[in-house]
Amino acid sequence: MNNQKVQIFDTTLRDGEQVPGCKLNTEQKLVIARRLEELGVDVIEAGFPVSSPGDFSSVEAISKVVQNATVCALTRAVKEDIEVAAKALKYAKKPRIHTGIGTSDSHIKYKFNASREEIIERAAEAITYARTFVDDVEFYAEDAGRTDNEFLAKVCSEAIRAGATVLNIPDTTGYCLPEEYGAKIKYLTENVIGIERAILSCHCHNDLGLATANSIAGVINGARQIECTINGIGERAGNTALEEVVMILRQHPNLGLDTNINSKLLYETSRLVSESMGMFVQPNKAIVGANAFAHSSGIHQDGVIKNRETYEIIDPTDVGVTESAIVLTARSGRAALAYRAKKIGYELTKLQLDIVYLEFLKFADRKKEVIDGDVHQIIKISNIGILI
Ligand code: KIV
Ligand code: ZN
Repeated sequence: MNNQKVQIFDTTLRDGEQVPGCKLNTEQKLVIARRLEELGVDVIEAGFPVSSPGDFSSVEAISKVVQNATVCALTRAVKEDIEVAAKALKYAKKPRIHTGIGTSDSHIKYKFNASREEIIERAAEAITYARTFVDDVEFYAEDAGRTDNEFLAKVCSEAIRAGATVLNIPDTTGYCLPEEYGAKIKYLTENVIGIERAILSCHCHNDLGLATANSIAGVINGARQIECTINGIGERAGNTALEEVVMILRQHPNLGLDTNINSKLLYETSRLVSESMGMFVQPNKAIVGANAFAHSSGIHQDGVIKNRETYEIIDPTDVGVTESAIVLTARSGRAALAYRAKKIGYELTKLQLDIVYLEFLKFADRKKEVIDGDVHQIIKISNIGILI
């Protein structure tokens, strides 16, 4: 099957950087932007230039160094925002302005105190204005997740008419169920006038832990861009995690979808973002967490030692992790102990292993994890005639 491409729009430096405590300076942003380009992302959302002089300078600096990816800047549907974004993107080889407005009844009433017609008008005006600066304009219908589909299709049709090249359908509050979000995208592919001239984009937040599932439902139903961040960082519970959607598409080739991402750089990129932002990655985080390829129960360890595929669906080297880890704990079995002992230089006979294993269990019950130094000591006190 010929895989269709899903564009990866990385917003680590915009939606991700909005997280309290994650602020980066321009130098740090440049390092990450270069790495994102190496990773193979199609679009780098570099910032929101009107928000501060620092953000303006970062978007400008990133525009100067990025060679292949599109560099994108966020704006509200406000003329000044668009002018400032265009200025910050002046040096970009492939500039994109990302403009938009809230479309849910709640946003229309409480944020804008406007009517649906006025919202459409403001959206179209902003897009038309942005098109006077750049050819590539992405429109976001903020809170599209809670916007009724018929009105959303109307807004999107007008956005395309005004010149939008990409339609971003954000589930801003992380409210949708995957079936619901997928159906929304399908409805738009069938009801938006001129949809063949635009790409639909998924931008899903993780308030109910469904961001990744929703983005995948979106591309299965016709979207061809996913907006995501490294490690899933972003407002509140975060955004769709880049590493997750990339590996889901790769592990399920029957979907017929793939990205340009060099997955071997995923782990390193996750470390870089985590360290630069001082944002710890939870150990059980899919793909890049410290335990993502670590096995600690005896049954699993025995299986993995016999054949990695018994308990792993991804080869760790495919995402840049050197090897699976066999972690020794009180739940580990003889196979794991023998495996570790061999790694550090002891070839134990079955009888020796039985004796050492009894000592090991006493030790492991007192410690969370048994490390190499402990194994040396356990073998020594087991008195099995091996000289240390
Ligand atoms: O979550 C959201 O709706 C956004 C838009 C500004 C694209 O981040
Ligand atoms: Zn967002």
